[in-house]
Amino acid sequence: MTRTGVACITGASSGIGAATAEEFARQGWSLAIGARRTTAMQAMTANLLQIGAPKVFHHQLDVSSRKSVKEFAASVATEFPMGIDVLVNNAGLALGTARLTQATDEEIDQVLDTNVKGAISILRAFLPGMLERNRGHIFNMGSVAGFWVYEGGSIYAASKHALNAVTKTLRLELNGTPLRITSIDPGMVETSFSEVRFGGDKEKAAAVYKGMTPLTAKDIADCIWFAASRPAHVNIDQMVLMPVDQASVFKVHRR
Ligand SMILES: NC(=O)c1ccc[n+]([C@@H]2O[C@H](COP(=O)([O-])OP(=O)(O)OC[C@H]3O[C@@H](n4cnc5c(N)ncnc54)[C@H](OP(=O)(O)O)[C@@H]3O)[C@@H](O)[C@H]2O)c1
Repeated sequence: MTRTGVACITGASSGIGAATAEEFARQGWSLAIGARRTTAMQAMTANLLQIGAPKVFHHQLDVSSRKSVKEFAASVATEFPMGIDVLVNNAGLALGTARLTQATDEEIDQVLDTNVKGAISILRAFLPGMLERNRGHIFNMGSVAGFWVYEGGSIYAASKHALNAVTKTLRLELNGTPLRITSIDPGMVETSFSEVRFGGDKEKAAAVYKGMTPLTAKDIADCIWFAASRPAHVNIDQMVLMPVDQASVFKVHRR
């Protein structure tokens, strides 16, 4: 896809979503971005316009609220009446590393409501328009936790396994249409992800990446752009991206 278009990115206020917004802006695409923190998106907008986005629309979005998803989708449709071309279904989080019996009900609900039900709500809000217009490329933000598991990660892994199942099902359901769907499945990426997971504890978060070289959010954005910019008949089903220092969820080389 060499032409420009409109990319809609959820969870665009930081990390992978923000870097992906920058990459599409650099490529001359317009952006519809959503997250709960509007001030962060407001702060990003001038830069996105300056590096090449013809138009940037941001709107508050809590993917775990169906009402918020509906409002977000309706505003995006009003701002971009020709519809979106790319959907980066990226909003997500992990909370804590407690074993199943120690995790709190609140942590479990928030992770599943965001990563599973939230991602599904976004798909249900944007897919009908894509099908009507016969164009669109969906990126679901998976993880290596979508096919590997580790102790203390049951709920996060369950959420990404579930999303993986949704992606694979949609690939079957979209067969026969020109729509494309790609699962992006990274290993360790240094973003706010670990800080959020450890409730704002910066030291604990920094220790996750100590002595190894993690992926950057830009590494992931580059891959999303690569997949989006393939010719229309090419679907990259899945991209698994790992830091060279990470061989599995269990094996990380630290210097
Ligand atoms: N970092 C990694 O190692 C890694 C590896 C594999 C996969 N992933 C996945 O990559 C995605 C992005 O994570 P990241 O690493 O970029 O972490 P991040 O920097 O913490 O970004 C997470 C983004 O999701 C948004 N978000 C969280 N809950 C939301 C909600 N209820 N509604 C709307 N937006 C919400 C956050 O925005 P607000 O707080 O403003 O709402 C933020 O923009 C996630 O799906 C994560 O599971 C990350």
